[in-house]
Amino acid sequence: MDLSQEKIENSTKVDKKMLIGLHLGNGYGSQPGAWRMPGVDPTSYTSFDARVKQAQSAERGKFQFIFLPDGPGAMLADIENEAPSFNLDVMLTLAAVARETKRIGLVATGSTTFNEPYNLARQFKALDVMSHGRAGWNAVTSSGEAVAANYGRTIPSSEERYGRAHEVIQLIQALWGSWEKDAWVHDQESGQFAKSEQILPINLKGKYVGSRGPLYIPPSEQGQPIIFHAGGSPNAHELAGRFANAVIGAAFTIEDARAQRNAFREAAERYGRNPDEIKYIPGLMTTIAKDRRTALDRRIQLTEHLFPQRVAYLQQMLGVRLDINRLNEPLSKEQLEAARPSPFDPRSRHALKIAKEGWRLRDVLAHGVIDYHPVIVGPGMEAANHMQAWFEAGAADGFWISADVNADGIDAFVDEVVPILQERGLFHQDYAGKTLREHLGAPEQYGIDPRVSSPSKVSVV
Ligand SMILES: Cc1cc2nc3c(=O)[nH]c(=O)nc-3n(C[C@H](O)[C@H](O)[C@H](O)COP(=O)(O)O)c2cc1C
Repeated sequence: MDLSQEKIENSTKVDKKMLIGLHLGNGYGSQPGAWRMPGVDPTSYTSFDARVKQAQSAERGKFQFIFLPDGPGAMLADIENEAPSFNLDVMLTLAAVARETKRIGLVATGSTTFNEPYNLARQFKALDVMSHGRAGWNAVTSSGEAVAANYGRTIPSSEERYGRAHEVIQLIQALWGSWEKDAWVHDQESGQFAKSEQILPINLKGKYVGSRGPLYIPPSEQGQPIIFHAGGSPNAHELAGRFANAVIGAAFTIEDARAQRNAFREAAERYGRNPDEIKYIPGLMTTIAKDRRTALDRRIQLTEHLFPQRVAYLQQMLGVRLDINRLNEPLSKEQLEAARPSPFDPRSRHALKIAKEGWRLRDVLAHGVIDYHPVIVGPGMEAANHMQAWFEAGAADGFWISADVNADGIDAFVDEVVPILQERGLFHQDYAGKTLREHLGAPEQYGIDPRVSSPSKVSVV
């Protein structure tokens, strides 16, 4: 064990624990080619049983939540070779998972641009009741013309999308609170089913959306679902700072993650909230194996068919010519000296660092230097060290994990990484509470948060 590692391991006896979520996309895993790996059921795309099994693995690892991204509408760009990246339907998937799990939080993405708030309100609250208080809603404004085209529309401007999002979230929280906490009596003796004076319309209307209400669903064990957000723009900071208890993030360096986390925390403070009420959770992609070589070979098997286009992209990141026919050679001394990491791609410096370690070109790519999040390709200890370093640097409150191949990659994380984090006192041993609100340490809230409601955005009619 070298000194720096010892320092990391000894500095961990802290009370605060990190959060861990599992990314569940199309059911195969986060790497292209996952659907073709040995041991993977090629029909997992439509298998709700596969999703349930994967969620159960995460629950075995005491993950606080699973996270399902959504377009809505999956990209079919390379349908000849690759599975679409999303679930068939996020709410139906979570309903299936809710019935087969007990503790893990269930977070789905729902677009504020392409849904009516009343529909979102009833679906998420029904899921919350069904799962006994484990639902979370990742409220996003959606991006991409391909998604908009599914609704016969074009993507509205950022101002329009976020203007609507502020209204939609307030409206939904008001609907969630429209059936008061003690309203449901269900007293067979007296014959009173509910107290009508505690189930009241909300009568809200704004520039974009409105609803009379009330909703017809009683509170869950956590009251109402938790709000998540995913995005990194100043508009995203404002929306999340106002309403969210957790942010699904993407950052490549500790410095960037810390800056993003601080931006969300400052936004929360601007709305009179305690910054600890909002947890910043960046992504981490994993290929866990007994050693680096085995892990790299697994990644090569997964993504080799994409190497021609990835070499072309790596060339731009490093600013030097690379030869696709020299995949089995390290970059030459001349190439390394001439390389200039692109200032436009935050992954470029790391890519050059890996290249300078002397790996063959194919291994440089297999390190995941062109992936969407930092990538761990190696033994579980490396993932634990990365997570500890970010967590202790104030760059993250937790991580959402994208396994390379779900069929065995989730179990590899649970068996090889989680015990190290627990041993270091960084991750809980077991669920202390039953609801997602308890798992996140999110404060009690029912209905709209009076600290952040604004009559100028959504007014009473
Ligand atoms: C980590 C991360 C995850 C995201 N997940 C989704 C998603 O599941 N569905 C979606 O429509 N958009 C998703 N987004 C996109 C954001 O909602 C947002 O549209 C995008 O970041 C553009 O931001 P802007 O509209 O603030 O400019 C995600 C963004 C990030 C950073």
